[in-house]
Amino acid sequence: EKSGADAEKVTYKVGTEPTFPPFDTTDEEQNIVGLDMDLIKAIGEDQGFEVTFENLSFDGLVPALKAGNIDIIAAGMNKDDKDRQAQVDFSDAYYESKLMVAVTADNETIKSVDDLTKDMKVAAQTGTTGANKTQKLQEAGKIKEAVILNGLDTAMLQLINGDVSAVINDKPVTEAYMKKQPDKIKMVGKPLNAENYGFAVQKGNTELLEKINAGLKNIKENGTFDKLVDEWFNK
Ligand code: ARG
Repeated sequence: EKSGADAEKVTYKVGTEPTFPPFDTTDEEQNIVGLDMDLIKAIGEDQGFEVTFENLSFDGLVPALKAGNIDIIAAGMNKDDKDRQAQVDFSDAYYESKLMVAVTADNETIKSVDDLTKDMKVAAQTGTTGANKTQKLQEAGKIKEAVILNGLDTAMLQLINGDVSAVINDKPVTEAYMKKQPDKIKMVGKPLNAENYGFAVQKGNTELLEKINAGLKNIKENGTFDKLVDEWFNK
């Protein structure tokens, strides 16, 4: 017989863009996995909801949430962005991050963002804070072209292949790519910003937002949060 504990749980659709390891990535069978997925799953276990994952382009996440095609964004998304805050509601911050300039490991000329020049192409992922910075460099005439790509895997490949001179991306994610391909990529200069990742829900969905914040607080207190961060950063 169904007891209260076995009663059917509500399932939320979680959208992400999975070329963002260790937060959002895929396993050998192309399942969406990562720290963000494990965190939202653990929050759901704590708060009595289940989750399924949807693979979208990063710039499609906010529109999909607004349209109600997904319920939650879990995508290493900077919650300090004013434009996003006008469109969605963010949970409490769960991770502090920053943007860095990445170049090939053998690059001797680019030591910071100031060494980028008018003849250079610089890549970033569409819709991200990194793309924003890169487009601003182009508008200011400091680089030749902002190459805005769908996936960070492509951006890193273009860097290694010499199609672009640099990639502007989140530090922990570039570090994950550096681990996958040792001695190919390095980061240079100072951080270009400071950001805080949050989960997003539809504007006004306070019921779900409160569950996420309560679950996040609980998994921080009971050690699950640190355990998962540890696991994903030491893979
Ligand atoms: N932190 C950056 C931003 O908020 C990049 C996030 C990219 N996330 C992803 N899953 N591809 O714009």
